[in-house]
Amino acid sequence: MKVAIVENENQLQDAYSVRKKVFVVEQHVPPEIEIDDLENEATHFVVYDENESPVGAGRFRVVEDYGKVERVCILQSFRGHGVGREIMNKIEEFALDQNIHLIKLNAQTHAEPFYLSLGYTTYSDEFFEAGIPHVSMKKEL
Ligand code: COA
Repeated sequence: MKVAIVENENQLQDAYSVRKKVFVVEQHVPPEIEIDDLENEATHFVVYDENESPVGAGRFRVVEDYGKVERVCILQSFRGHGVGREIMNKIEEFALDQNIHLIKLNAQTHAEPFYLSLGYTTYSDEFFEAGIPHVSMKKEL
């Protein structure tokens, strides 16, 4: 597995292709919500397997004095093998390079244990976003 920071249109489309498979097809998020007007200001990440196929994605934005991680997803058949951890490590490394020492994210509640295992803590009650229950989580880097 290789986590790439998106640098060209092909890589961006690879990231979108994973996001669409996971969020639109699997989780039924409307496509007009999945791809939003913040894509241009975000740094995108894409994970490739050994055949150079995209299998994971996520994005990172600087908001005020912290970094916001969004749209983290791994294709179903690649889950549970540490790929999610790999992309999160790469995003955190990138944040530190930008001198960002606080990460916040809104986690789907089923993914809360995933982020807890990476050192994030929950700081909100449950709320709904795109019809899916979420909690807000953060981590000091
Ligand atoms: N419940 C409990 N623990 C979980 C978990 C779950 N659903 N998913 C992952 N973990 C734990 C793993 O056990 C592992 O911990 P360990 O090192 O102690 O064994 C750690 O989290 C890392 O897991 P990893 O294999 O890297 O996770 P993954 O590649 O399966 O990716 C998601 C996790 C959430 C990104 C992936 O399940 C996914 O894409 N889900 C669908 C999209 C989605 O809902 N994204 C979240 C949006 S907020």
